[in-house]
Amino acid sequence: MQLYEVIRKRRSIREYETREVKNEKLEKVLNAARLAPSAKNIQPWKVIVVEDEGLREELAEAAYGQEHLSQAPYVIVICVNEKECYQEHGDYMTSFAVDGAIFTDHLTLAACAEGLGTCWIAKFNERKVKELLNVPDTYRVVVMTPLGYPAEEGRDKGRKALYEILYKNSWGKEY
Ligand SMILES: Cc1cc2nc3c(=O)[nH]c(=O)nc-3n(C[C@H](O)[C@H](O)[C@H](O)COP(=O)(O)O)c2cc1C
Repeated sequence: MQLYEVIRKRRSIREYETREVKNEKLEKVLNAARLAPSAKNIQPWKVIVVEDEGLREELAEAAYGQEHLSQAPYVIVICVNEKECYQEHGDYMTSFAVDGAIFTDHLTLAACAEGLGTCWIAKFNERKVKELLNVPDTYRVVVMTPLGYPAEEGRDKGRKALYEILYKNSWGKEY
């Protein structure tokens, strides 16, 4: 699939088949995410691939009962080191959330190109997720996503038109 087609086709998938995902496919997707940019190229991430069914169910509980998280054969948990990442993003914040988001975006697009579904999950209790997966204190859990074959197409949620989000030269100036 061409890049623009993948970008257009990707949707949040909340129904999954239990069909196995071949290891080769999984690694292809993870490898695309590995190539994501990060501030100063620090690559401050660690990623936990959760296959164990019991753990997936507990993660869904930690995500306030979002069952779609445990339905797919894998849950991918993106963790970023808050101390190791770039500390002066915009002179006001650290880059951990941005780095983690770019990694996740590469992953979700690559998954779509491979015919797999994903869904960004940010509504979760980080403390519980860290306990379940033994994530050290220095890391933040940024996003989780199920990964598997979609059992639905996903809904087109629509987007704002380009002219609604663009300004020219200065804030408030029509593009
Ligand atoms: C940062 C972030 C957090 C999200 N958290 C959740 C979540 O906890 N549960 C969920 O089902 N969807 C979650 N989503 C999915 C969004 O609802 C979805 O991306 C949005 O409605 C647009 O739909 P689309 O992904 O199908 O284009 C999240 C998306 C993002 C980018």
